[in-house]
Amino acid sequence: MVNVIGLGYIGLPTALMMASHGVEVIGTDYNKELVATLNAGKTTFKEKGLDELFQNALNAGIKFTTEYQVTDTYIVSVPTPYDKFSKKVDACYVVEAVKDVMRVCPKGATVVVESTVSPGTIDKYVRPVIEENGFTIGEDINLVHAPERIIPGNMVYELLHNNRTIGADDKAIGEKVKTLYSSFCQGEIVVTDIRTAEMTKVVENTFRAVNIAFANELAKICRHDNMDVYEIIKICNMHPRVNILQPGPGVGGHCISVDPWFLVGDYPSLAKVIDESMKTNDGMPDFVLNRIYEIMKEKGLTDVSRVGLYGLTYKENVDDMRESPTLQLLESQERHLATGLKVYDPFITKDVVKNQYHDLDTFLADVDMVVVMVKHTEIRENVDKLSGKVVLDCHNIIDLPGVYHI
Ligand SMILES: NC(=O)c1ccc[n+]([C@@H]2O[C@H](COP(=O)([O-])OP(=O)(O)OC[C@H]3O[C@@H](n4cnc5c(N)ncnc54)[C@H](O)[C@@H]3O)[C@@H](O)[C@H]2O)c1
Repeated sequence: MVNVIGLGYIGLPTALMMASHGVEVIGTDYNKELVATLNAGKTTFKEKGLDELFQNALNAGIKFTTEYQVTDTYIVSVPTPYDKFSKKVDACYVVEAVKDVMRVCPKGATVVVESTVSPGTIDKYVRPVIEENGFTIGEDINLVHAPERIIPGNMVYELLHNNRTIGADDKAIGEKVKTLYSSFCQGEIVVTDIRTAEMTKVVENTFRAVNIAFANELAKICRHDNMDVYEIIKICNMHPRVNILQPGPGVGGHCISVDPWFLVGDYPSLAKVIDESMKTNDGMPDFVLNRIYEIMKEKGLTDVSRVGLYGLTYKENVDDMRESPTLQLLESQERHLATGLKVYDPFITKDVVKNQYHDLDTFLADVDMVVVMVKHTEIRENVDKLSGKVVLDCHNIIDLPGVYHI
């Protein structure tokens, strides 16, 4: 039986996927409300295919609880934020979860850390917790790191089809855990050592962060001299060895805007390009805010409360707002003692910010200028409703005359 610890954006789909593929699974989360919601037969976030997967897992007998289970396999999928000052990974959630696992686990159990951690985190923080509990790693407890790569918005497909990495001290244990993941994963599963697995996950997200920062920098250069960055990137990407990502209003979520900082925190004198890239991406919401004021001036608009931000989430077609560029932009606006921007997101049904709307038409009726912060399908399907408005399109998806870009 597998006890999945942490039933958030990663732990829940993983638990459901395993249960749907014949593995006996109990999901544990210390959030009572979350567990009660799952036990009431409801999922806790919106994701394509998740409700169907949930039903399959329920039919297969998955259980949810706040209690840690006595079993032979644990999958730890708890948050790993970064410390805003040191930039290093904050491993406190992983440490607490592993401590709780140690209180109940029998000898011979395997503990799989799925949470993203910086290279060396497991040596520094997780091994001591296991040893302090009187266990010998490799004899009493097997330790494995199996980082997750799925993307919100396409999680169910990617869980099934992505390649995976499994890091283990002992190749045979790595192979055993590979068999567990092979119950559902159709991708290739590479078995390596733990530190390599830690580093690969962070490097993958860092590669994307640096590439996005490059695109954002190009957008700024092109803006400065009135060149079309999208056309330029499109042509450059026709080169067989060039693949530039797209510029945007900033990077959010819990991966690309977080994990590269771990390397900056751990290797401050070495990770220079990464540091600059993260600062470039973090500066994009402010860049968009300046663009809003520039365009307002050009168009003779004076009332900020007639400007609306479309989208609150950090990416399209999900309800995850963590570290989102829109939230960063609103914070920045408040710091400059200017408030009043209107906000709407079809995926955010609760009131979370000031001047928030819950209906596209009412939102559009109350604004003269729309800033497309997130490329939800809804706005792509309602482009005609933007005609007559001043539009700042941060994703180059609105095909209307006179649209502004970042
Ligand atoms: N969200 C993503 O897109 C994504 C993608 C790949 C990897 N990851 C990584 O996966 C890990 C989990 O991220 P997430 O987005 O699922 O986080 P999340 O915040 O959505 O979920 C974490 C869950 O863990 C629970 N939890 C925390 N400490 C606990 C404990 N000691 N015992 C029991 N439950 C506990 C919380 O209540 C929460 O429900 C992170 O390391 C993240 O970097 C996330």
